[in-house]
Amino acid sequence: MSVDNKSNHLERRDFLKGLSTVPIVGLLGLAVQRQKSFEKKQREALLGAKKEVDPNLKELNIALLGAGAQGEVLRNAILKIPGIRFKAVCDIWTEYALKKNVNVLKKYKFDVNGYEDYREMLDKEKDLDAVVIATPDFWHARHAIACMKAGLHVYCEKEMSTNLEDARKMVETARETGKLLQIGHQRRSHPKYIHSYDKIIQESGMLGRIVTSYGQWNRGAAEDLGWPSRLEIPKAQLEKYGFKNMHQYRNWRWFKGLGGGPIVDLGSHQIDIFSWFLGAQPTSVTASGGMDYYPKDKHEWYDTVMAIFEYETEQGSSRAYYQTQTTNGSQGYFEKFMGDQGTLVISESGSLGSVYREATAPAWDKWVNMGYIEAAVLQEQKAEPDVVLDVRETISPDQHIIPVKLYDPYHQPHLENFFNAVRGQGKLNCPGEIGYETAVAVLKVNQAIEAKRRLTFDPKEFVI
Ligand SMILES: NC(=O)c1ccc[n+]([C@@H]2O[C@H](COP(=O)([O-])OP(=O)(O)OC[C@H]3O[C@@H](n4cnc5c(N)ncnc54)[C@H](O)[C@@H]3O)[C@@H](O)[C@H]2O)c1
Repeated sequence: MSVDNKSNHLERRDFLKGLSTVPIVGLLGLAVQRQKSFEKKQREALLGAKKEVDPNLKELNIALLGAGAQGEVLRNAILKIPGIRFKAVCDIWTEYALKKNVNVLKKYKFDVNGYEDYREMLDKEKDLDAVVIATPDFWHARHAIACMKAGLHVYCEKEMSTNLEDARKMVETARETGKLLQIGHQRRSHPKYIHSYDKIIQESGMLGRIVTSYGQWNRGAAEDLGWPSRLEIPKAQLEKYGFKNMHQYRNWRWFKGLGGGPIVDLGSHQIDIFSWFLGAQPTSVTASGGMDYYPKDKHEWYDTVMAIFEYETEQGSSRAYYQTQTTNGSQGYFEKFMGDQGTLVISESGSLGSVYREATAPAWDKWVNMGYIEAAVLQEQKAEPDVVLDVRETISPDQHIIPVKLYDPYHQPHLENFFNAVRGQGKLNCPGEIGYETAVAVLKVNQAIEAKRRLTFDPKEFVI
């Protein structure tokens, strides 16, 4: 579906421009009116685009289970995908997340029912094809398993679970029921990542032998999430769903048994890319981490983690350093693969994606001519000023931009891959087995921090 983003952007700009030219009196009313008109146009664009849908496309009935921050991101991406009909939303925050999402979907003309309890939803909604799960990690296994057993295909957010036993059961259930289980490592379907793996790493071998890799997710210091007191969930209801109180409910990712802290929350996306691009699972991990910054009575997981993974790839030994810290957002998040002939720097974020040739490597004209990379941009004219690389000593000053961009929301291609697979068109890019391998690698980082020593992986650990 091609929603006219340009006209939406114009509308947004007009909206802001309009605000600057009217007197303050009535500003709010005008703003609300224009916002409504913007939303109406956006809905019309989406609905209009839906009319152009291929009549042979099988419509899929879906439910959204977990309608918090990520549930909304997925919902918005799904709204851009043709042939998907929302039938139900389930969320325990009935007065806020549930109400809000049901209302939004009704505005998009979906006849949706809202539920607090997923079991009731599964009992009542008998014509669902699939469910999209975006609940906290410790609920994933129960939700995914119940949904697959009820006959639904499942798109489940990462991390599969807070423990490997439950993650394993998810894969086993997918196998037993024959239902699809896609895990939300969405970079696996991102065209820039697919191009980088297929063309830059594999086919051209442009980077040469990758001996070291690096990844980071640096986030600035932030307050814990709060909530308006009028929307507080009653304690008994919170406890029924495994949360001690509102603070823990809102900030579950910081608590043991509920989430895995930033290394799991953020790191798993990028440690997944290490395994994919290196074509190997790690053989060991050494890590240091601590609760260095945030008050210890508010969080349970490490706010700062630095980890070193070792790999035996087809090319030989390889090491990857990964860090996530939550007190300084310097350079955000990206991954970097350093071969003896070149360096790939890539991120899901924005347009970041370039290759830098080592000064001693053969020319890359062939790959430029084949369209795998763009012609070199001299460092002084760099198109991506946010990439700070010290290129002066060992690599040529040339930056080659990867000519593949994603203009859709980040999660859309991964959701499309899932829905296509449900229709029997193609295979999942991140089935439960891959999600499991990543969970094995990532969950061991926290164990290595606790053990204060290098932990090894038995290759059998990655296999179900
Ligand atoms: N792929 C990505 O880029 C990405 C990004 C952010 C979050 N996530 C993942 O998405 C999931 C949700 O994260 P979030 O940031 O939206 O958290 P959140 O706390 O904002 O939302 C979770 C929602 O689940 C609901 N919920 C909790 N327990 C429930 C239950 N038993 N039944 C029904 N609803 C329940 C909550 O009420 C809440 O609305 C997590 O697994 C997280 O790791 C993935």
